[in-house]
Amino acid sequence: MERLQSLEFEEERKRKTEQADAVVMRFLPKEEGFASILLEAMNYSMRSGGKRLRPLLMQETYRVFGGDSAVVEPFMAAIEMIHTHSLIHDDLPAIDNDEFRRGKKTNHAVYGEAMGVLSGDALLNYAYETALKAFDVPEHPERVVAALRILAHKTGAYGMLGGQSVDVMNEKHRQTKIDQNMLNYIYENKTSALIEASMMVGAVLAGAKEEQLAEVEQTAKSIGLAFQIQDDILDATGTTEELGKPAGSDEKNEKTTYVTLFGVEGAAREVEAYTREARRLLAQFPGEHEFLEHLLIWLASRKK
Ligand code: IPE
Ligand code: IPE
Ligand code: MG
Ligand code: MG
Ligand code: MG
Repeated sequence: MERLQSLEFEEERKRKTEQADAVVMRFLPKEEGFASILLEAMNYSMRSGGKRLRPLLMQETYRVFGGDSAVVEPFMAAIEMIHTHSLIHDDLPAIDNDEFRRGKKTNHAVYGEAMGVLSGDALLNYAYETALKAFDVPEHPERVVAALRILAHKTGAYGMLGGQSVDVMNEKHRQTKIDQNMLNYIYENKTSALIEASMMVGAVLAGAKEEQLAEVEQTAKSIGLAFQIQDDILDATGTTEELGKPAGSDEKNEKTTYVTLFGVEGAAREVEAYTREARRLLAQFPGEHEFLEHLLIWLASRKK
């Protein structure tokens, strides 16, 4: 990308991220009643920022496949709630034990461990309450059902939570020998699965066909692998200030990662390879997808 183009892209990315963020904000619960502390803890993590990558990918995929209604909006909020639930729980003492996230103290560091568990659970559940609001938009209820099915499958035991469960075993002192196959299982699930859900939900709500959905899934899988390997690189090379979360968390937890297996340069080559593969697959998408392509290039060299 030449300079002018990349400046234009950056403006576009900011604009679309702000739009996605505004959609997510509209669906947050009200902090009231006896459980207001729980609702406050949920909103604390939801309002802490973050790249809003998953709602953005969902909205863009929806648009690329010809979608143009508000039916996608409850799902954009829902995927960010599920993602945020995964981060709150990922940071708990029993998992990665990190005290900094999105430039602020982690949920459990502010509200205590019990509330960290509960507000994470509550966000996961509220995600489905929110996604169900898509039925209020009176069009194609069968697409909403298909989208819910994808959302539920990709984020649970056969997706993100499955990946997180194996990741917990991925610590040196547990003496599990992690090879590249097992690491790919972890990454395809803990990270790719939510990205697959984001893009597939967008596509299915816009009326994509089965074969197209399979292509979207493959594309998102590669995006997710590139994304997680870049996350490993940043964990090893970035600073806590830049990242908004603790640098060196993987080393602290003695994780096997792409960086420990292949070194920073080897891992960077893998990010490039998966990004190239994702761009090749993206070329088959039906609508105008220049923004998505630039987004993939941007993700591969992101610093946070
Ligand atoms: C962090 O995801 C968890 C990983 C899958 C590596 P993001 O890097 O998208 O986190 P936020 O949403 O921007 O905080
Ligand atoms: C976590 O991977 C992915 C999730 C499902 C939360 P990491 O543990 O590497 O994510 P960060 O680095 O804490 O964001
Ligand atoms: Mg983790
Ligand atoms: Mg972590
Ligand atoms: Mg990480």
